[in-house]
Amino acid sequence: MPVVSQAAVAALALVPWPSRVTPGAGAFALAPSTVIVADAALDGVADGFARALHPATGYAYVVRHGAAPKGSVIEFRLDASLKGALGEEGYRLDVTPTHVTVRAAAPAGAFYATQTMRQLLPAAIERSARVAKVAWTMPAVSIEDVPRFSWRGSHLDVSRHFMPVTFIKRHLDLMALHKFNRFHWHLTDDQGWRLEIRKYPKFTQVGAWRTETLVGSYQPDSTKRKYDGTPHGGYYTQDDVREIVAYAAARFITVVPEIEMPGHAQAAIAAYPELGNLSRPLGVYRLWGEGEDVLNASPATVAVMQDVLAEVLELFPSPWIHVGGDEVQKGPWQQNPAMQAQIRQLGLKDEHELQSWFIRQMDTWLTARGRRLIGWDEILEGGLAPNATVMSWRGDDGAIAAANAGHDAVLTPNHHTYFDYYQSKERGREPLAIGGFLPLDTVYTWDPIPKAIAPDKVGRILGVQAQVWTEYIPDGRAVEYMAWPRLSALAEVAWTPAAGRDLVKFRARMAVHMERLKVLDVNARPLDKPVF
Ligand code: ACM
Repeated sequence: MPVVSQAAVAALALVPWPSRVTPGAGAFALAPSTVIVADAALDGVADGFARALHPATGYAYVVRHGAAPKGSVIEFRLDASLKGALGEEGYRLDVTPTHVTVRAAAPAGAFYATQTMRQLLPAAIERSARVAKVAWTMPAVSIEDVPRFSWRGSHLDVSRHFMPVTFIKRHLDLMALHKFNRFHWHLTDDQGWRLEIRKYPKFTQVGAWRTETLVGSYQPDSTKRKYDGTPHGGYYTQDDVREIVAYAAARFITVVPEIEMPGHAQAAIAAYPELGNLSRPLGVYRLWGEGEDVLNASPATVAVMQDVLAEVLELFPSPWIHVGGDEVQKGPWQQNPAMQAQIRQLGLKDEHELQSWFIRQMDTWLTARGRRLIGWDEILEGGLAPNATVMSWRGDDGAIAAANAGHDAVLTPNHHTYFDYYQSKERGREPLAIGGFLPLDTVYTWDPIPKAIAPDKVGRILGVQAQVWTEYIPDGRAVEYMAWPRLSALAEVAWTPAAGRDLVKFRARMAVHMERLKVLDVNARPLDKPVF
């Protein structure tokens, strides 16, 4: 074993921690004369890395092809033989004082190597203008890295509060830094519809705006509620969406869109009342919690939602399309004679089976178009659609039931992944939040695979994902306070082998990593801020 200085170890403040790390001696120094060489298939990744180095260093690298020259070199090599051991997302990274070599079986792996290199360089590399008097060095190290889970997700609710395109891109950048690969974009809910649909313009003309927003926490007593009197809204044009999907794809992130149905749909019903059940008109919901109506399950409404999904499929190449399915109130269907008639006509037992019938219409439709339906765990109620993937949010039971029945599942349990929960028991010192208590250490020490999943079904667990619901999170700065550093901890749950996780070491690495987040102007909750 080479002798390693403490300083070199401190510099290895990688988050998420890789599968295998062998520190070396010395360091590689970027210089204006450094040559970046890449195999053609890794050109885009190498070029992205070269461009990322430019603002802070001032060095303008042009990626070359062919054999590596002598001297200071960063080399990107495609190595199909690594596919068996490392898959498409794994990589090998060897840093010596003269040479950096990245080897991966596919561009995704090489991209993750660049995110590791980014973290091996001083935090000042994140600056967007030239920084003088910095030694641009990476400590010598050999890394072999492969993710634990294929689904490493970050969810963001843009319905309760609209978040602009610039913020979404910034969030995608931070996701990439932490090797997340699924952005679950919660685009519609009772309080706002955020996606332009060409065939039905009122979804955004009407559904993207609410007249006002509740002030303070939810009050069950309606006489105690106060509203701010300020309209809130916004939506993404289809051009905005294409831009975000491309931006994500360049960072090897799949954007999974969510269109909520049949519940959490009051904004849609405000735009097109014929989609609802009640005879009175409803506006876009101003209150938190579930709206007053849900979509009816008529064939006409199913057809409208399939038209919506047709435009969604054009915009989003994601293999998974999220249809929500959670918290569908049954009252509106009980009050609607047409829905009662439909239950009888279809030979269904009750409203749960009608919900399941509705979701199956979407499952069949998506499957016929080569996509996979994904939904919250309520889609298990009344029978799970044959090709559905389940996001288990009300604890682990949904994932256990889905996986044991041979379905894919993603672990999104509120107890470890709801980042709208408080980060401290001293609520008065925190921004107003929805409730709960989920501090950083609890996220980090989560052992995600439920014991009740049969050993031969554990492979059905695709991975883990953090949820940021934004009822009480009005803007991007506030999202960042809730998301970071908890997302850094979840990145390690998602990526690092269970045996490689260590809370004490993580906190030491985070102390260094926070400097990088600070340079990036991330409004992370301070590591040393009290939790009790
Ligand atoms: C959810 O939190 N209703 C998925």
